[in-house]
Amino acid sequence: MRLVAFGVGYVGLVTGTGLSELGHEVLCVDIDPQRIKDLNDGVIPIYEPGLTDLVRRNERSGRLRFSTEVTAPFDEADVYFIAVGTPPGADGSADVSAVLAVAERIAATAKKAALVCVKSTVPVGTCDAVQARVAKAGVHLEVVSNPEFLKEGDALNDFFKPDRVVLGAHSDDAKQKLRDLYAPLQLSGERVVITDPRSSELIKYAANTMLAMRISFMNELSRLCHTTGADIHAVRLGVGSDTRIGKKFLYAGPGYGGSCFPKDVQALIALGKKHNVEMRMAEAAHAANEQQAHFLAKVVEDALGGLEGKTVAFWGLAFKPETDDVRESPALKLAAALLARGASIVGHDPEGGPNFLKLLAGTPGAGKVRVTERDYDALDGADALVLLTEWRSYRAPNFGEIKRRLRAPAAGEPLVIDARNVWRPADVHRAGLRYQGIGVPDRR
Ligand SMILES: NC(=O)c1ccc[n+]([C@@H]2O[C@H](COP(=O)([O-])OP(=O)(O)OC[C@H]3O[C@@H](n4cnc5c(N)ncnc54)[C@H](O)[C@@H]3O)[C@@H](O)[C@H]2O)c1
Repeated sequence: MRLVAFGVGYVGLVTGTGLSELGHEVLCVDIDPQRIKDLNDGVIPIYEPGLTDLVRRNERSGRLRFSTEVTAPFDEADVYFIAVGTPPGADGSADVSAVLAVAERIAATAKKAALVCVKSTVPVGTCDAVQARVAKAGVHLEVVSNPEFLKEGDALNDFFKPDRVVLGAHSDDAKQKLRDLYAPLQLSGERVVITDPRSSELIKYAANTMLAMRISFMNELSRLCHTTGADIHAVRLGVGSDTRIGKKFLYAGPGYGGSCFPKDVQALIALGKKHNVEMRMAEAAHAANEQQAHFLAKVVEDALGGLEGKTVAFWGLAFKPETDDVRESPALKLAAALLARGASIVGHDPEGGPNFLKLLAGTPGAGKVRVTERDYDALDGADALVLLTEWRSYRAPNFGEIKRRLRAPAAGEPLVIDARNVWRPADVHRAGLRYQGIGVPDRR
């Protein structure tokens, strides 16, 4: 098939590349000319494991192309995918202006009947608004909802082996066309949920908010553990071994971040407000997440006995491992809170350093932040190390080296705060360091 993907970000680039790998002819279109120039020069604008090789291979084959324009023969595409950003507006609602702008563009260029497939995460009713815009085209265009569920860091795997594909369409013809398109990814058994566009749009928000609620609840419990002496690890194991609950998404930490959970939870709350339905669970998940960020800042402050003039090292700046995406990352929030209390920050991340500095620019005190190329260099002379992202390369560190590099307080041991609860306190203690986890009692 001949396909066009609008938006060459984490979703659009993975989708376009994956579809070309399956044998389709794909044009990826973005309004950012620099992004398109980079891609045409072989520079991949995002870090996603395995993506660079796959883009290059499919570009060489001629099946994958990048442009700022819908050029012929792609004005006769079979499917147009919309995968542009839907960032939060001032009131938390999703800003769908880019999605609607793409709809106008498709209406102006399409010369053949086609499907318009909305992959961006959009509020209920957006596909109808897209349909109204593409109805102006001289050819029949049917809009379908096909929300994306890929996880950054494992996006290619998610593309080629999706847990499920959700399709929201009105006509049987559109449903069948999309089933056919996704059939090569369903060889081990079809996992397609087919519904109407409005339900499909809501499924995406419901899924992300459900996951965010689990994390927020565990984070709340971790705060209770912190003050009562209970151990969040034990609570997680005890709760997660109930098969009705399951083991996943039960890890306490610095709070959820990234470009999806914070934005989608708030967009669901805003959608509820618009329709006069209180979304209390979503509101609580959001509030608990904000509280967790304050809690972590307080843990660092209390453990250091104040932050004025102190230097805090961060390991992990991206919102999760295996991505360079720093949007809404716990490191950004913690940095802002610590800077406001007079601290300096030295960070390290295998991929996220440049994006961290870019997103922090403009935050008061940003001049007191630097990032290092090498992980241990971030520790030199710092008063504490906070582990914020559980990259594999931080999993089994040399705690002796950490101890040598950190500055020891006048009385006592240098401080390590494991905001992901991945290190064993005994290993940290053995090196002569003070350990602080999230909801993990410091039992020596
Ligand atoms: N990143 C994820 O893990 C993920 C997962 C599932 C769903 N989503 C959803 O998918 C959508 C895209 O997310 P993303 O993370 O890939 O975004 P992104 O910010 O990485 O990329 C968006 C791209 O769209 C381009 N763009 C903006 N307006 C455009 C226009 N009018 N025409 C063409 N291109 C335009 C931007 O230049 C940018 O390159 C969002 O709705 C998001 O919520 C994201």
